[in-house]
Amino acid sequence: MTSLSNFAGGADALELNGKHIVLGLSGGIACYKAAELCRALIKAGATVQVVMTEAAEQFITPVTMQALSGRPVFTSQWDARQDNNMAHINLSREADAIVIAPCSADFMAKLLHGRADDLLSLMCLARPIDTVPLLLAPAMNREMYAHPATQRNLVQLQADGATVLGVGSGFQACGETGDGRMLEPDELLQDVIAFFTPKVLAGQRLLITAGPTFEAIDPVRGITNLSSGKMGFAMARAAREAGADVTLVAGPVSLPTPRGVARIDVKSASNMLEAVILIIKDATVFIATAAVADWRPDAPSDQKIKKDGSGQSPQLAFVENQDILATVAQSAAAKSGALFCVGFAAESHDLHENAQAKRLRKDVPLLVGNIGPDTFGQDHNALLLVDGQGSTEMPRASKLALARQLVKEIAQRIHKT
Ligand code: CTP
Repeated sequence: MTSLSNFAGGADALELNGKHIVLGLSGGIACYKAAELCRALIKAGATVQVVMTEAAEQFITPVTMQALSGRPVFTSQWDARQDNNMAHINLSREADAIVIAPCSADFMAKLLHGRADDLLSLMCLARPIDTVPLLLAPAMNREMYAHPATQRNLVQLQADGATVLGVGSGFQACGETGDGRMLEPDELLQDVIAFFTPKVLAGQRLLITAGPTFEAIDPVRGITNLSSGKMGFAMARAAREAGADVTLVAGPVSLPTPRGVARIDVKSASNMLEAVILIIKDATVFIATAAVADWRPDAPSDQKIKKDGSGQSPQLAFVENQDILATVAQSAAAKSGALFCVGFAAESHDLHENAQAKRLRKDVPLLVGNIGPDTFGQDHNALLLVDGQGSTEMPRASKLALARQLVKEIAQRIHKT
């Protein structure tokens, strides 16, 4: 058995360690979210240099951004603090990426035309276009966002090499409701991390099951288990970061959907099977992280089962649920190698033996074992990978860090076949 020693800095190394981000703020009420984004980027390991337009200073002060970033903020191209008086050159040469958040409609129009009459636009124009990516987080009123001029500008900016991170939808500061809000700081952070992640799963379509299932006894009661869905959701996030198209079939959990992931909510094992069967034909990788209930009540009652005063408990009979993973693993696509199947095994003891036996029984090339009671509901886990070659331990780390390692392991195996 081998043990993965993980990456430099350990499995839980900060995602943006070593990255230097220039965070540009143009004018908009969403500047208040830029403060939170700045903190989030730093918490993820990045160093952040803030540059603000004059309009941005109307919404938030450079003092706030300096305090959060730990660096003096630049606002003017005539800043005498730079020995050569060329802040636009110096700042853009140091950056691993320039993130404009918020990016106003006016600032987009400026970028589009290559205008350079303030430090931020000047710096964007002066950036080495091949080595310093430009990421834009638009923020504006819904009518401004929908305007043909804005939409035209968005298309052209992407053609010119910028990455547009999208917008949120909902209540706007102006009182209207629609598309155009700046994405939330955590969503932007997820997008920036994804931007820097190597795209080892580009072109792959992943279907992932996650969470517990709920098997009804009557309309108000049922049988479920302690699975939180966190490992499956972490897998979905890590796979999307690595460039895959991801669909998540989730049992009853209250976790937020990872950015850019399609989600289908289901309740019972039968619902989960139906959803999987419906979309598996489009998938190239199937990952079964769900803790599917093994049995369901044979004849759930339409009405709440009442106590009859006799002191007798109701007699419940059970039938076995179909094994979703084993069913998919027997499909022609899986047999031909067009669909790579990954199973999980929640065990309470004898992890090696049980995981290897389960892999053979389910007929999957890769099975990931863990001790269920040690991990259900928690943010951390330790994994054991078993395949035809043997087994590999992944020491305890956050589920997201483990998911990212697993994505690499899966990518290596897909690219070998
Ligand atoms: N699985 C599934 N459908 C089922 C049961 C399990 O797809 N009806 C999948 C799980 O998502 C997991 C793998 O099979 O990827 C193993 O699940 P686990 O609960 O550990 O094993 P079981 O097959 O239920 O076997 P046992 O309860 O005997 O350990």
